[in-house]
Amino acid sequence: MLEKIQEAVDFIKSKTNLEPDYGVILGTGLGGLVDEILVSDEIDYKDIPHFPLSTVEFHSGKLIFGLLAGKPVVTMKGRFHYYEGYSMKEVTFPIRVMKLLGIKKLFVSNAAGTLNPDYELSDLMILNDHINLLPENPLVGKNIDELGDRFPDMSEPYDRTLIKKALSVAKENSIAAHEGVYVAVSGPNLETPAEYKYLRIIGADAVGMSTVPEVLVARQMEVPVFAISVMTDYGVPGKIEKIQIEKIIAAAMKAEPGMTKIIMELIASD
Ligand code: HPA
Repeated sequence: MLEKIQEAVDFIKSKTNLEPDYGVILGTGLGGLVDEILVSDEIDYKDIPHFPLSTVEFHSGKLIFGLLAGKPVVTMKGRFHYYEGYSMKEVTFPIRVMKLLGIKKLFVSNAAGTLNPDYELSDLMILNDHINLLPENPLVGKNIDELGDRFPDMSEPYDRTLIKKALSVAKENSIAAHEGVYVAVSGPNLETPAEYKYLRIIGADAVGMSTVPEVLVARQMEVPVFAISVMTDYGVPGKIEKIQIEKIIAAAMKAEPGMTKIIMELIASD
């Protein structure tokens, strides 16, 4: 696998001179941050050796290199989900590539259902922990010792300093943001009312179908992570509605300026 990662890295380096310090993954309906990037290069996933292809139609699937708040970033516009049929190794391949490209921190966004009755639609939740209910783990298999430990520590999955800073940026800018626990499930179906209740009881504030695999791999490589969810639908008893993907995207887009502001400020002041 190390060779495949290196081939992807070599290809990318032949296409851009930008050396990113930060990696950013944009979730469903959250592509707007790209407009803030002074873009130097764009590389389609389909051109990168060993990269999986993005199949979700509203994801255009490319790596965008440029300056965000004056700092060099690589942004994944479109991510890979387990429910699309990719293996966990495929889902997390780009994280390995970003690390070898030199990123020092990873920023992740996603759309999630809220389990916490105090959260409203389009509120943001800054992840301070997660619960992994995905049926596969990207770290299973022969360990590549050059990339990290066999038994990686997860005592601080999300960087506490970044969480603190993000909460103060949110407060200063009157952005509705909470701190909470994300639970990852495989999807693609949404949860039944009993499942939402169960996820709440086991300690989660929001549920989604992404992020955790990428975080596990980043943390194995000792990359500090910041992750943020936008609440796009209710998994709270009495508030659960029939799901409409358009509504999810609309709720995410409404929260996009706040999310963009937080990530930009964190990178600008880093
Ligand atoms: N459940 C799982 N994943 C999701 C949800 C949800 O309610 N909303 C957005 N992604």
